[in-house]
Amino acid sequence: MTDPIFDVVVVGSANLDLVANLDHLPMPGETLIALGYAEYPGGKGVNQAVACARMGATTAFVGCVGNDDAGSLLRSVLEGEGIDTSHLRTVDAPTGRAFINVDNHGENAIVVVAGANALVGKEEQFDIPRSRVVLAQLEVPLETIEVAFSQARSNGAVAVLNPAPARDIPKSLLSLANIVVPNETESAAIGGTVNLLNLGATTVITTLGADGASIESTSSNTHIAPYNVTPVDTVGAGDAFIGATCAELSRGVSIEDAARMGAIAGALATTVKGAVPSLPTRQAVLAAQKSVQ
Ligand code: RIB
Repeated sequence: MTDPIFDVVVVGSANLDLVANLDHLPMPGETLIALGYAEYPGGKGVNQAVACARMGATTAFVGCVGNDDAGSLLRSVLEGEGIDTSHLRTVDAPTGRAFINVDNHGENAIVVVAGANALVGKEEQFDIPRSRVVLAQLEVPLETIEVAFSQARSNGAVAVLNPAPARDIPKSLLSLANIVVPNETESAAIGGTVNLLNLGATTVITTLGADGASIESTSSNTHIAPYNVTPVDTVGAGDAFIGATCAELSRGVSIEDAARMGAIAGALATTVKGAVPSLPTRQAVLAAQKSVQ
């Protein structure tokens, strides 16, 4: 195998997040007046790529944006973080949008309009750059992730799947993932840890919100303790966890140590509003880790 070019390649979505702050999340049929409003760069793919880069991993992003202001903003955010965008295409569709409600406990509800994200990998020749880790989520076409993971496996990279948002995933795709990182809801939607291990995943890391995370393989089960904070906005917390975990994995540390850094990164991300603005640096994660040792 030739040397990988990047530590982590992220194949994923790029969204403009339209965030309304509310006293509580709306009930069916209810109209609410927002207490605040802001727009942030986001999308699970962009968030996870930025999380990796802030954790010190050389990172490339594979995705699509539209030929519009939101697309230009997202491209410049990625470039500003030092992320390689040579596989970020500008396509003839609007940049993805996420409509996000955040309540006064920091809980959220999100609706994503795919836009340009639906075109990721929809070109005749789809190749991802070589890397140690290939990370994908489910806001881009599933066939594209399958191709990316096939390439990852034949290049000797570790394929990490964040099955978010929860949706039906073909076995042919699940069986290509080495590591699957769902939250509890997503885990239930794809048949739970036992199903994932039976399909070929070596490890399943389930994020448990304020309870930390669990790491399961066929031979072991480890609980990762939470890092306690007072959350103001949980948007992007899962992305911070996964990005940090993948960045650490690309350094060759154990999966347990990687997930411990991930858990701290995820917790820190809940203390700042917005997705991309909340993603911590490795220095901040290390400082927080030291404060509890
Ligand atoms: O995980 C949070 C992200 O989900 C938001 O940034 C939003 O864009 C959606 O993709």
